[in-house]
Amino acid sequence: MKNQKIALITGANRGIGFETAKQLGEQGVTIVLAARQLGAATEAANELKQQGIDAYGIQLDVTNTDERKAAAKYLQEKFGKLDILINNAGVGPKNWSMFEKTISGTTYEEFEYVFNTNLFSLVAITNELLPLIKKSDAGRIVNLSSILGSLTIHSLKDSPIAPMKTLSYNASKAALNMYTNHLALELEGTGIKVNSAHPGWVKTELGTDAADMEITDGAKTSVALALIGEDGPNGRFIHLGEELPW
Ligand SMILES: NC(=O)c1ccc[n+]([C@@H]2O[C@H](COP(=O)([O-])OP(=O)(O)OC[C@H]3O[C@@H](n4cnc5c(N)ncnc54)[C@H](OP(=O)(O)O)[C@@H]3O)[C@@H](O)[C@H]2O)c1
Repeated sequence: MKNQKIALITGANRGIGFETAKQLGEQGVTIVLAARQLGAATEAANELKQQGIDAYGIQLDVTNTDERKAAAKYLQEKFGKLDILINNAGVGPKNWSMFEKTISGTTYEEFEYVFNTNLFSLVAITNELLPLIKKSDAGRIVNLSSILGSLTIHSLKDSPIAPMKTLSYNASKAALNMYTNHLALELEGTGIKVNSAHPGWVKTELGTDAADMEITDGAKTSVALALIGEDGPNGRFIHLGEELPW
């Protein structure tokens, strides 16, 4: 049991999160799928179990303090450690239209909603689980960021993401990248690696059908960063093995 790797994936009932759970499970990792609704988590875990994957479903709305504590308690009691945390749960603004430029029209409420999920709660769940990750021989934290959080690429007027200027979402991912950078430095020497992943533009509810990448490929960056060895990157921003500029 001590050598069996345990992963927790937030927002794992659908989209990139579910596919990441499936691909990691296929690599022999024990999977804890976390979802806002217990029914959705259990259903997703059952689907993976039918494929021979060791999977469990738990309820975890990352914005809920009690549920974050309950998730840590569950992992402590069941496994006594956590090897891989994939901070996958994320949102765009409600009624998001990706190509709309709403910079001056971004409301306080929109910032609050997007930052609460994409940054504040992500930091809170990571803090809650860090004592368990420190019990792993080689902890891995993967933060689902986005190329839309790259200040360098947004600064290029003719970049492919130039028309996509949704301030709340983009700023939340830029801030998340800062968290990756800072946490990786804080944890240097512990064996824990922390990286930001850009999955690609992926056909999910968030990415829409206009996206150019299938979900199977969209999960690859998260899976690879979850399984990196001692010589793998730390405190980096990665897409399919390539480093992206902050
Ligand atoms: N798709 C893309 O093109 C793309 C590109 C760059 C980055 N990303 C990032 O990749 C991650 C996954 O995106 P996706 O495309 O798979 O999105 P998605 O299909 O919309 O799925 C989002 C997942 O997050 C969950 N979630 C949202 N708020 C939550 C909360 N408060 N607590 C727990 N779970 C919550 C959702 O749960 P419910 O089912 O309950 O709503 C759902 O499982 C996100 O962080 C996103 O920003 C995606």
